Formats: sequence, structure tokens, C-alpha cells
Amino acid sequence: MASQARPAKTIGILTSGGDCSGLNAAIRAVVCRAIECHGWRVLGIRQGTMGLMRRPVEFEELGLRIVTTNILRMGGTILGTTNKGDPFAFPMPDGSLRDRSAEVIAGYRELGLDALIGIGGDGSFAILRRLASEGGFNLVGIPKTIDNDVGATENSIGFQSAVAVATEALDRLQPTAASHDRVMILELMGRDAGHIALTAGIAGGADVILVPEIAYTLENVARHIEKVRERGRNFALVVVAEAVKDTLGQQVQRRHGGGGATLGGIGQLLGEELARRTGAETRVTVLGHVQRGGEPNATDRLIASAFGVHAVDLVAAGRFDRMVAWQNRRVVDVPLADAIAEPQRVDPAGALVHTARGLNISFGDA
Ligand code: F6P
Repeated sequence: MASQARPAKTIGILTSGGDCSGLNAAIRAVVCRAIECHGWRVLGIRQGTMGLMRRPVEFEELGLRIVTTNILRMGGTILGTTNKGDPFAFPMPDGSLRDRSAEVIAGYRELGLDALIGIGGDGSFAILRRLASEGGFNLVGIPKTIDNDVGATENSIGFQSAVAVATEALDRLQPTAASHDRVMILELMGRDAGHIALTAGIAGGADVILVPEIAYTLENVARHIEKVRERGRNFALVVVAEAVKDTLGQQVQRRHGGGGATLGGIGQLLGEELARRTGAETRVTVLGHVQRGGEPNATDRLIASAFGVHAVDLVAAGRFDRMVAWQNRRVVDVPLADAIAEPQRVDPAGALVHTARGLNISFGDA
């Protein structure tokens, strides 16, 4: 009996939400697997769902040429991204919000896509799932975020590179702190999760790590720094996650030119208070978007590559509404619903917190 050739598919790929290191490595892996292994077409959609909303639809066909370029190592995303513009509540120039989801769904249809691979965090996945369910399209998710707060995966693309950058910052702060007898405060990103602060804090030899998941008092932090100094050390390193609350129980926000506000500023408040309470000279470094840019490290390249290949394999197997995930040192897949059911936060009773306490690192809670 003559075997029937299966028709080649056309798949779309987009990056959504804040960028991070390793997105291009994932795009490269998707393109390589889809074309080399299956002979499919891959359309890269510009700027997340915005590309599907715009007319003409903004996309580019991704060929094997990109696999041979340098994109494995490149930071950012060659497709562009946005962390604004929820199509279900899209901000219009007159300040109103409009549901433009039908335009996105029409864009998907216009491209004749058989499936969409969305690289995003939990917020993007919630939107993409809703679009997929209302538009009847096939979705596979690849998790990325330096915050590492997507559920059901030990690692999201970008987290390990952000930790490496934050650890290097501590390595660079330590000698200058020691030279000047200073307390150095390093404010790190992570939104409501303290994973970057906790992981980099341990790796970079911090004396104090403040994370949103563990309530602190300034009194406890000041006492710990005084103890460090009493023991003969002339400097201290304090790591604080951006979502840690101030003494009034409020998260600190910074307003941006062009509108909007994001978390940031707790480091400065902490520096001033610790100087007042301990008499130490303090300096504050806010690492900011440096944590998101630049080359992915080896772990992120590996995870992104494994995620890209597995995501295409899920499409080939017709297994949709799933997210690729990293568990027990290998790539697996889980229902997208599980991944976004609850954000993954630092477990105050978890192994890493235990390790930190074992190293006499203070969380400011005792
Ligand atoms: O979610 C990633 C993240 O980098 C957070 O850690 C940070 O709070 C936020 O995005 C910054 O967003 P923006 O790029 O809009 O300033």
C-alpha cells in the first residue's frame, strides 16, 4: 500500500513579555527542528501578539539561515516583544481599553497557521490560552522569565543568566566594599518572586538576603550587620529583591519617562536606613535591566535549545495546550493550565533558604 505523505505544516512563533537572555537560542532550536526534521514552514511573528493584530500582519519567514548565524549567543529577541498590549484590554490612544482579540485571531488565520509556539511568562500564557480557546487555535508554550516564577518548571529561560550577572555584580562589589569599609546594597529584579536574589545572594557571598516571601525588620538587618562588623569584618553585602516592602508595608515603585511605573527603589531606602541605624557607610547599586540583556550563559542555551526542540515535537504529536518544562535535569511537558495556576515563589522552608541560613546569611526575620 502506498504511504501517504503528511502535508507540511506552517507554524508561528512569537516572544511575549519582557525579554531575557536565551530567547534567540529557543527560536533557533524551533526553526532547526521544524525545518530539518519535518520540512515545515516557520513564521516569526513580530512583537508578540501585536504582530498578529497589525495589518498587514507583521511576520517574517524564518529559514535555516538563522540557525547558522550567531543567534544562539545573542541577547534580546530577533522577533521583538512587548509587555504591554493585552489584546483583550488593549490601551487605545484616547486612554480607553478595547477588546482587540478578534483581530489577533484573524491574524493567526490569515497566516494559515497550524500551530503557534508562544515563548512567554505566566501573564503571556494566560492571554495566549484565552486567544487559543476563543480562536480555536493550537498552542504550545515555552517558559521564559528572569523571575523564574512560572509554575511546574524548575527553570525558565533567562533565569540562570540573570543569576550569573547578579553574582558577578556581587563579585565586583565585594572588593570595593572591603577597600572602603562599606555596606553595599544590591537591588535585584524578580517581580514578586525572590529567586534571583536568593540564588545570586548565596552564590555571591551575601550577608543579608531580603526576599518578598520572608518578612524582615530593619532592626534585625541592622543587628546582623553590626554582628558581622563586631566579628572583625569591615564590609557587608546586602541583596534586596525589588518587590520587598518598605517599613510601611508598601512595595516601592519607580515612575518612568513615557508613563508607567515598575518596581524599584527599595535599595535606596534600605541604604539610608541602614546607614542611620548602624553608622556604616552604605552605597546602593540597582542592577536593573542589565540582568535581562546580553548573552545567555551555557545553562540557558542548553535549556532553550531543549525547550525549542521539544516544543516542535509536541506540535508534531498534536499535543497542544501544553508547556515544555525543566524537571529533574531534563525537558518534559505539562498542561499549560498547571504552569500558570500559581506563580512559583521562594519557599521559606525550602532547601535554598536552609542553605543560606546554614551559611549564617540573614533574611532579616530574626
Ligand atoms: O518580569 C521581568 C522583569 O524584568 C521584572 O523582574 C521587572 O520587575 C520587570 O520585568 C521590569 O519591566 P520593564 O522592562 O517594563 O521595566
